[in-house]
Amino acid sequence: MTRILAIESSCDETAAAVVVDGRRALSSVVASQDELHAETGGVVPEVAARQHLRAVLPVVREALRQAECGWDDLDAIAATAGPGLPGALVVGLNAARGLAYGCGLPLIPVDHIEGHVCANWLGEQEPPLPALALVVSGGHTELLLMDDHGRFRRLGGTRDDAAGEAFDKVARLLDLGYPGGPPLSALALTAQDRSLKLPRAWLRGSDDFSFSGLKTAVLRTVQGDDAPPVAEVAWAFEQSVADVLSRKAERVAEREGVQALLVGGGVAANAELRRQLAERAQLPLFIPSPALCTDNAAMIGAAAFRHLDETTDPAGPLDIFSTARRRLRLSP
Ligand code: KG4
Ligand code: ZN
Repeated sequence: MTRILAIESSCDETAAAVVVDGRRALSSVVASQDELHAETGGVVPEVAARQHLRAVLPVVREALRQAECGWDDLDAIAATAGPGLPGALVVGLNAARGLAYGCGLPLIPVDHIEGHVCANWLGEQEPPLPALALVVSGGHTELLLMDDHGRFRRLGGTRDDAAGEAFDKVARLLDLGYPGGPPLSALALTAQDRSLKLPRAWLRGSDDFSFSGLKTAVLRTVQGDDAPPVAEVAWAFEQSVADVLSRKAERVAEREGVQALLVGGGVAANAELRRQLAERAQLPLFIPSPALCTDNAAMIGAAAFRHLDETTDPAGPLDIFSTARRRLRLSP
């Protein structure tokens, strides 16, 4: 049995978890900075980094306590090495490094996107490979072909805004606060008239996505004469995003002849997207529970388990921008 303590601090959640054999989270503690960033309507990197510094050790201690795990029970310590806000990443990664050095444990740097994909290994069923992975978060929208653990090929991604970024920007436009996904989704549910249709960027012939045109269409709709109620705009926006993501992912998965479609990232917590993906699924579909879609450290522990043979000396040099990235064959 391999127990990994994992730390995640790439954006605005300070998280720690203890994961057994990459499949079972004994604990998953997430300290959200949402309230802090709600004041500014978005994440201020410097503010996030300072908050990570306050939270990281208490969160680690709590994760060990909930897992009923002592330092001696651990086999490795993992941390998100990128992509993310550099100042925020450095806090979690250096905490992991210091703890690993102090405990004489190996350090495993993990790519955040691979973490979102590997959250699917924390469920009851183990996903078959090869698979197509759709990662939709605040910073990323990626379609990745996963041949095996640690072997990814990027087929496409967003050309402008990430899906979650579009939710956040539209939510700000509608005065719904930060982060925008959950309140926008709640508002969409209250729409009475569901006839408004907003554009979909299909980008035919390409596996890429684009959401900036949709954002502009929302702006034009709410600023126009006879603007519909905001709930109807929220509903039409959510429909457009879910429709494009689910149809394109399903189509590419069929084309590539994979065994399963794996979804992850904060936007995968969206109920309408989950519904449309399930409705269209021709292949086994894996989506983590909503708490494991948004940023957490259990997913980092799940990914780290697949890289036990690629540990790093915590006292050695560490290039946070490339160490884990190379495995994904994504651009830096
Ligand atoms: O994966 P994540 O926690 O952080 C990043 O790696 O970026 O994703 C955060 C993003 C935010 O943009 C947030 O608005 C969005 O995920 N999100 C949602 C929902 N929950 C979170 N978007 C739509 N519907 C949701 N229920
Ligand atoms: Zn994320």
